[in-house]
This record gives sequence, C-alpha cells and structure tokens, in this order.
Amino acid sequence: MPDTHAAELAATAEEVFRTQFGAAPEGVWAAPGRVNLIGEHTDYNEGFVMPFALPFYATAAAAKAETWEFHSTHGGGEIVRSESADGVGGWAAYLAGVAWAMNEAGYEVGPARIAIHSDVPHGAGLSSSAALECAALLALADLHGHAIDRAEAARIARRAENEYVGAPTGILDQSASLLCEEGHAMFMDCRDLSREQVPFRLEDEGLTMLVIDTQAPHRHADGEYASRRADCEEAARLLGVAYLRDAPADARLDDDRLNRRLRHILTENERVLETARILKGGSVAGIGELLTASHVSMRDDYEISSVELDSAVDAALGAGALGARMTGGGFGGSAIALVETAAAPKTEAAVLEAAKAAALPRPRIFAARAAAGAHRVR
Ligand code: GLA
Repeated sequence: MPDTHAAELAATAEEVFRTQFGAAPEGVWAAPGRVNLIGEHTDYNEGFVMPFALPFYATAAAAKAETWEFHSTHGGGEIVRSESADGVGGWAAYLAGVAWAMNEAGYEVGPARIAIHSDVPHGAGLSSSAALECAALLALADLHGHAIDRAEAARIARRAENEYVGAPTGILDQSASLLCEEGHAMFMDCRDLSREQVPFRLEDEGLTMLVIDTQAPHRHADGEYASRRADCEEAARLLGVAYLRDAPADARLDDDRLNRRLRHILTENERVLETARILKGGSVAGIGELLTASHVSMRDDYEISSVELDSAVDAALGAGALGARMTGGGFGGSAIALVETAAAPKTEAAVLEAAKAAALPRPRIFAARAAAGAHRVR
C-alpha cells in the first residue's frame, strides 16, 4: 500500500531529478529501511527473522539514459557519471551494484539516470544501504520491463551488496525492504524465503515501539561481522551440518567461543518462532521477555552489543519497558524498546539520562510503526 510519507519524499526526488538532469523522470520508486523485531544473525545461518519496515524511505527518480548518472541529495551535490555499471565506488556503488547484479541474473538493464532522496538514517543500523539498493532495483526493473519476483529481487540486491559492494551480509535487509507489509511484522524462513505477514498493531494494545539510535559509530563492524560468520561456519563444520539452522537443539561444542555462538543461533531461532506464535495469538505485550532474552544472548553469547546499546536497553528496562534489545548487525546502531504508550516519555528520559551519565553520545529516539514495503510511487 502506498505511503504518504514516501510520496512526499518521492516528490522531492522528482524535483531534484528535474533540476539535476533538466528533464522529467520516467517514474519514482520508494524502498524503506527496517527494524528487525527479533532474529539476529540468523539469516546467514538459514534460520528465522522477523523484520518490519520503517516509515523511512530511499526514493529513486529514474529514467533511461545514454550513460549512467547518479545523484543523491546526500552525495555532496555531485553527479557520479560512468560509462558502465562496473567499478563504481562510494555511495553510488549501491545503485551501480544492483545494475551489475541484475545483468548477472539475466535481467538486462542499460544505463539510467537516477536521483536519490532518502531519509533512512545513515549508520544507524536501520538498513539505509538496502533501501538504496531496493529502490534502484525496482526502478531499473520497471524501466526495462522486467517483472521480477520480490524474493528473487531480494537475492539480486543481496548479491550486489555481497559481491559488488563487498559486505558479507545475509538476506535480511533486502527482503525486509522488498517484502514487508504495512501493519505487519514479517516472519521469514531464510532457507527458502517463505514468509508469513503477522499483524503487528501496537496501538491496539496501547503500546509503542521506541527505536533508540545510539548515534555511536559502528566500531569494527565489518571485520567483527565477518568473524561471527566465520565462527558459525566453523561451528557448523564441526557439527557436520551445512548451516547452524540444522544443528539439533542439544548440540554442544568443546570450544567455549564457538559453543556460545552456536547457543545464540539455536536459542534465537527458537525465540523467533515463539514470537511469531505469540503475535499470531493476538498479543504484542507477550513478546517483551523474548526481546530482552534476545539482547542478553547477543550481549553475552554472540558478543555484538556495545556499551551504548547496553546502556539504552538497561535504562529502558529500568524504566519499565516490557522488553528491549539491540537490533541489526550490532557494534553500534540502534536498540528497540517495547513500552506502554503512557510510559514512553519516562522511558525516553531514562535512556537519555543514562547516556548522559555515562558520557555517551545523546541517542535519537523515535516511535516506530510498521510501514509499507518497497513500491512505485509515481
Ligand atoms: C546486518 C546484515 C543482515 C543481518 C543482520 C543481523 O543488518 O545486513 O544480513 O545479518 O545484520 O541480523
């Protein structure tokens, strides 16, 4: 379903396109950032995830052209020009990479002009790069008349991120941007991308989901992410399974670190399944403890939290949140806290106060709702 906020951003993208390129675009497409409600680092273990789309979008105004020309309202005013989609660097790599991956997948795309306007917070762990990729992918698919199944599109955008941009991520972010639906969290099995849209209506229960962007820099995020992946692959090898998804619930490893990585993945998959069951039973409040247990597991077993994230989670829980956890890849970025709406101001104040007392950056806090997934706006 279209989103009025996406439409406003799209109008700006269209205007920027006209100013930069002196002509009208053929269309404008929007793709959102995401919060992952639960199911962290399970995606590349072929396990379960449960994201919802945030009402922040990357919008792409685009038209076919003679050469590639990319502009972004956050790109310092420049136009990045390239004869081919290969070898483009910087922020434009997310767009060119998608063109490359589409060609690789047999969906031929020629050059285009693309103007980007996005309000997905950058560096906050809310998938601003996947939003860029997915907006570009929808734009290029429509411009060239390719009807691409959304799950297939997510795989193509992930390939752009893995092989062109060079970040070894899983399929969570791209599938969230392309497949989530308004008012729902999406339960997804990352093995085959089968999924179920689960109603997620906080307001019906007088609840609010706060997103707490810690504003802390991602520290060593790339290297640490890759090393967690490597740990999981090693653990799977030792257990004789292809992916940790296939490890039996009672599996144990002698190596303490690998055993803790394994335990996180096994228990996190269970928590996602349980969260889906509770939400389908009609209760959002009931998932609070699972969110908090997920955070503890990421903090102690997977070791991907940070002092800023722990401060936010502890302060929110101390102020009476029903549950709280870091979300996304970790090592900085954002946390979420499920709170009674009446208690939201008190929780925000507690989180800000805790950050101040520990001399941490001042977090940016907002209330999330489950927004519409990627779509053509005009
Ligand atoms: C990042 C990656 C995703 C996923 C999460 C952790 O967002 O891009 O693929 O692994 O971290 O759940």
